[in-house]
Formats: sequence, structure tokens, C-alpha cells
Amino acid sequence: MAAILESWEANARQWIEVLDAGELESRRLATNGSVVHAITRWRPGLVLDAGCGEGWLCRALRELGIDTVGVDGVPELIHEARMRGEGHYELLTFEELVRQAQWPAAYFDLVVFNFCLYEKELTRNLLQSARRWVFPSGRLVIQTLHPFVALGTGRPYEDGWQVESWAGLPRAFSHPYKWYYRTISSWLDLLAECGWQLVQMEEPLHPKTGRPASLLITAQKAGQGHRH
Ligand SMILES: C[S@@+](CC[C@H](N)C(=O)[O-])C[C@H]1O[C@@H](n2cnc3c(N)ncnc32)[C@H](O)[C@@H]1O
Repeated sequence: MAAILESWEANARQWIEVLDAGELESRRLATNGSVVHAITRWRPGLVLDAGCGEGWLCRALRELGIDTVGVDGVPELIHEARMRGEGHYELLTFEELVRQAQWPAAYFDLVVFNFCLYEKELTRNLLQSARRWVFPSGRLVIQTLHPFVALGTGRPYEDGWQVESWAGLPRAFSHPYKWYYRTISSWLDLLAECGWQLVQMEEPLHPKTGRPASLLITAQKAGQGHRH
């Protein structure tokens, strides 16, 4: 079994090709638009795209006049992001991101994790640290696999490690890895434990199947009061 980051390094080129070819229908028809909307409705000036991959979301936000910083732990993906457009990108693993001190506190209006939170404790550490990165009523947006989609026949609905078999992807991806499955209530508990207050939970639907394409969570720092 590969470590998660090793797996993404091994699959980086294929991932770029799959996105370029628009082969992930749920992204094209549902989840890309959903996450852009979930971000832009807060009119942020500066967004941290953590686990930005080849940078499509940063590019989409920049086209709408929003400044971005993209970070990812895979050199090939960060290289690709830098080649493809303006914008600030940094090669940083999530482990490094948790400890980073180069940005001033409360630097960002919003932090987004789009389909990149696969760990158990590291995800907890990231969400706790993310409180330091955003200003007092800053937002956190997480888009992730909807837990019902990964609820295989007979599988109990409970947290636990699962093997990523790449079943939903069109090409031959290699280096399977283990990721930590969370139920919806576990995501909400985790947010609260990490000092985030739920603002909105959405379940974007795939327009062809009518099934959830993702779980999309927006939160703000707990104890700061709503600011619409
Ligand atoms: C499914 S891709 C999503 C990329 C991008 N957010 C998007 O929407 O296309 C998952 C991303 O998470 C990144 N990632 C996973 N674990 C990481 C870690 N420990 N540190 C930094 N990046 C990580 C991978 O390199 C990959 O770019």
C-alpha cells in the first residue's frame, strides 16, 4: 500500500490528463461549479487552495477577480499549475502546512480543501491549524466524497480506513492507498472539535443520476458570529 502523497506523485501526469480531457463527468457537471459557488458567495479577496493539484480552482477563482495561493505536496502538480497561469503556488505538504509560519496570522479570507482530505489525524491537525490562517470571520470550505456514495453493499456506516481502488476513475491509476472514511456526523463533529461552526452543508447532485456528487461543507471560526 502506498503512502497517499507517493500515490499522487505516481499518478500526477494521468490526473492532469484526466482533468484536461474532462473525463470526470461529476466534476464537469456538478462539483466544480458547486465549489466555485460555495466560495464566491462570500466575496473573498484572498483564498488559500490547500491541496490545489494542477491549479484549476485557483485559475477559475482568479478569472473571477479573486486572489489565490495554491499549495500542494506533489512537485509535478505545482510545476503544472505554475506553467498554466498567473498566481502564487507553493510546494508544501500538508504536514508542512500545519507547521508553516511564513504567512501572517489571519492572512486569508477563506481556505478551501477540494477533494483532498484523506487522512485521519492529519485532517484534524489541518482543520485546527486552518483557524490561524483565516481572519476572524473567515470561512472554511471542504468538498469531499459523499459518504453515501462510498457505502458499498453490506459495509457498515461508520468511520474507518478504506482502500482507494480508483474505481471511479477512467484510466489505469496505480499505487492504491488507504483513506479515512467519515460519516456525515463524523465530519460535523470533527469541524466542531477543531473550532469551526457549520454555516452550510450541501449535497450537490449529479444531474444525470440524481445522486449526491459530493458533500460540501462551509464553516466559519466558532465564536465569531455570522457575517453575511
Ligand atoms: C483529488 S486531488 C484534488 C486536487 C485539487 N484540489 C482539485 O480539485 O483538482 C488530491 C490532491 O491532494 C493532494 N494531497 C494529498 N495529500 C497531500 C498531502 N499530505 N500534502 C499535500 N498535498 C496532498 C494531492 O497531491 C492532490 O493534488
